[in-house]
Amino acid sequence: MSRLLLKGGRLVDPASGHDGPADVLVDDGRVAEVGPELDATGAEVVDCGGLVVCPGLVDLHVHLREPGREDAETIETGSRAAALGGYTAVCPMPNTDPVADNAGVVEMVAARGREVGLVDVFPVGAVTVGQRGSELAELGAMARSAARVDCFSDDGLPIREARLLRLALEYTRAFDAVIADHAQDASLTDGAQMHEGEVSAMLGLAGWPAAAEEMVVARDLLLAELTGGRLHLCHVSTGGAVELVRAAKGRGVRVTAEAAPHHLSLTDEAARSYDPVFKVNPPLREKADVEAVRLGLADGTIDAIATDHAPHAREDKEVEWSTAPPGMLGLETALAVTLTELVGDPAPGARDPQPPIPGPPNREGSPPGSGGAPAVHSPSGYLDLATAIERLTTGPGRCRRVPGHGGPVAPGTPANLAVFDPAATWTVDRARLASRARNTPFHGRELRGRVVHTLLRGAFTVRDGLAQR
Ligand code: DOR
Repeated sequence: MSRLLLKGGRLVDPASGHDGPADVLVDDGRVAEVGPELDATGAEVVDCGGLVVCPGLVDLHVHLREPGREDAETIETGSRAAALGGYTAVCPMPNTDPVADNAGVVEMVAARGREVGLVDVFPVGAVTVGQRGSELAELGAMARSAARVDCFSDDGLPIREARLLRLALEYTRAFDAVIADHAQDASLTDGAQMHEGEVSAMLGLAGWPAAAEEMVVARDLLLAELTGGRLHLCHVSTGGAVELVRAAKGRGVRVTAEAAPHHLSLTDEAARSYDPVFKVNPPLREKADVEAVRLGLADGTIDAIATDHAPHAREDKEVEWSTAPPGMLGLETALAVTLTELVGDPAPGARDPQPPIPGPPNREGSPPGSGGAPAVHSPSGYLDLATAIERLTTGPGRCRRVPGHGGPVAPGTPANLAVFDPAATWTVDRARLASRARNTPFHGRELRGRVVHTLLRGAFTVRDGLAQR
C-alpha cells in the first residue's frame, strides 16, 4: 500500500489533545509519524494547506435499511454517503426486515459492510426479539458472534417494559455492552405528529410532549443506577432530558448520550410548511430545547453527535404529513451543520470560501432550491472546533467500542482520517446526495465546512470530494 504524506494541515486530534499544524505520514494503512515538516521521501504528498485533518468521524446511529428496504438505502449507498460526510465508522440500527436480533443478521450486516469497504460497520443488535418488546433477544450470542456486538437498542421503538430494560442492563454487564434506548412513552405519543406546543396547537396536529421523552429518560437513568449497567440515550431532544442526564452523570450513573444535528439546528416551526421532510421522531422541538441540547453538547452532558440518518423512499415520504414516516437524512450534512450552526468563526488559517466541490451527477437535474428550513443561528458559537470534532469522533467511542476509530492519530494506529475545509461553503442539493433517499431537511441551505478527503486504513474512500467507489 502506498505511502502518503498529508502535508501542511491543522491536525485536530481530541484523543491526544493535539490542535495545531502537523504533517501526518501514512504507511501501509497506518499512521507512521505525526509532526512538523515530515520527510516526504517515497511518499505521495497530499497538500492539506488550509485544511483540517482529524480522526474519521464515527456515527453511533444510522439506518441503512438493509436487509429489507434496499429501495430506500443499502449498506453500499449508506456507506458511500457516510464516507462523503467524513465518516469512517457507522453503527446501523437493527430496525431492518428481518430485525437484527440474532447473530445471523448482525453478521450479515457487518460482512456486507466489509465487502463494500467504504466505512467500518459496527451493527447495533436489537434488545428484544423482533423489537416486539416482549422477550430479550439473544444478546450474548450477538456479542460472541463475528460481529462482536457491544451495543443493543430497539431504536425506532422504546423498551416499554421496565422489567425488560432492567434485565438487559443487568445481563449486558457481563460483557460490558451498552443498552441504547429510544426514550418515548408510547401511551403519551399515540398518533402524535409533531412536538406538542404552540405550533402543534396552531396547526391542529397531535402533539408529542417533551414529558414523554423525559419520563422515560428518568426511568432509564434510575434503572441504570439500580443495575450498574451501561445506558446510552439516543437522540436526546429536550431541555428536561439534558438536565436529567446532567444530574445523573453528576452522581456517577453510567450513562452516555447523543444528539442529532437536526435537534441541534431546527425547531418545530419547520412543521408550519407541512413538508413531511421535517417529520422526525423524536420531533423537532422548541428553540429553548435546541439551546439546552447545544449547551449539553458543549459541557459534555451529551457525549456525541449522531445523525439518526433515516432514509425513506420517496413514495413513502413525499406524501401528506400525517401518513409520512418520521426520519431525516444526516450523513452527508452532519459535519457542515455542526460547523455552521455550532462553531463560531471559521477556523484560524482557513481559506476563503471555495467554490463547491463537484458532487456526483445530478440525477434529477434540479438546481438546489432557495428554500430550506428555518434554522437557529449561532454567530458566536457554542463549541470550539476541537470540541465539535471531539463530539463527532472521540465522544462516540465513549458510548460504545469502535476499535481503530475516533483517534488518537498516533504512530501505529489505523489511518482512519477525515480532511475537511472548515471555511468552504456549499449549498445542499438533495439531488446530488449519494444516499438513495432524498429526505434531507437541509435542501437549499448554504452550509460551511466541506469534506475533501476521507481515508479508511490509509486508502482514500473520498478524494477531492469524490467517492472513490
Ligand atoms: O425519525 C425516526 N426515524 N426516528 C426513529 O427513531 C426511527 C427512524 C427510522 O427508522 O426511520
